[in-house]
Amino acid sequence: MNAQAADNFTDNRHVKLGISCEMCHGKDNAVPYPTIDQCKNCHDPKQVSEKTKDVKPQNPHMSPHYGNMLDCALCHLQHSPTENYCDQCHKFGFKVP
Ligand code: HEC
Ligand code: HEC
Ligand code: HEC
Ligand code: HEC
Repeated sequence: MNAQAADNFTDNRHVKLGISCEMCHGKDNAVPYPTIDQCKNCHDPKQVSEKTKDVKPQNPHMSPHYGNMLDCALCHLQHSPTENYCDQCHKFGFKVP
């Protein structure tokens, strides 16, 4: 990747916190598309789900379909606008940070 392209990826809240590309993508970009496995190294899905248990109309981190193990980046995309994955089928109106 050239410097210009890399630059576009630094506009990311994690990178701004000083977290390196490697923390999600591994050495030599071994993980081009990070999953919950990488997020879990720093965010415990159980704790995340507990924290949002009172969010209305529904806890975004708990569902009968996926429990608390739905792939984080389906909603919290890291280099593009975030998405409300559930609302393909529901109308929860989540604002995903
Ligand atoms: C190297 C550790 C690390 C990894 C890996 C990591 N995060 Fe984070 N994340 C943090 C820290 C530190 C913060 C800032 C403090 C906080 O809000 O917990 C943060 C903040 C966040 C926030 C913002 C919370 C808010 O209030 O705005 C979200 C959402 C998030 N991370 C999702 C993810 C997702 C999704 C992944 C996997 C693709 C991931 N994180 C991987 C450390 C990490
Ligand atoms: C279905 C979409 C969706 C998925 C999948 C998802 N989140 Fe979230 N996340 C949200 C929404 C919506 C919020 C904001 C909740 C609120 O209104 O407080 C949020 C908030 C957060 C926060 C901030 C919580 C706080 O109050 O400090 C963190 C951290 C976070 N998510 C991490 C994760 C991690 C890690 C995963 C994967 C294990 C994940 N999320 C999966 C939708 C999602
Ligand atoms: C917090 C975890 C995290 C960090 C830190 C991170 N990425 Fe990513 N990256 C992801 C995730 C998740 C995806 C999957 C697509 C998305 O979420 O936008 C991704 C996708 C990508 C892609 C593929 C994009 C595409 O659309 O095919 C590139 C290239 C990339 N990241 C480069 C970087 C670079 C360069 C850095 C450091 C400056 C970086 N990333 C830091 C999580 C991260
Ligand atoms: C592909 C479509 C689809 C997606 C995506 C989806 N759901 Fe559902 N969900 C359904 C269907 C269909 C039902 C109804 C099942 C039934 O009534 O037996 C349902 C039922 C539910 C219920 C039971 C209560 C109710 O409202 O009927 C909850 C809670 C729920 N989903 C939460 C979620 C959450 C949270 C997400 C995102 C993390 C999500 N769903 C993503 C299709 C989906």
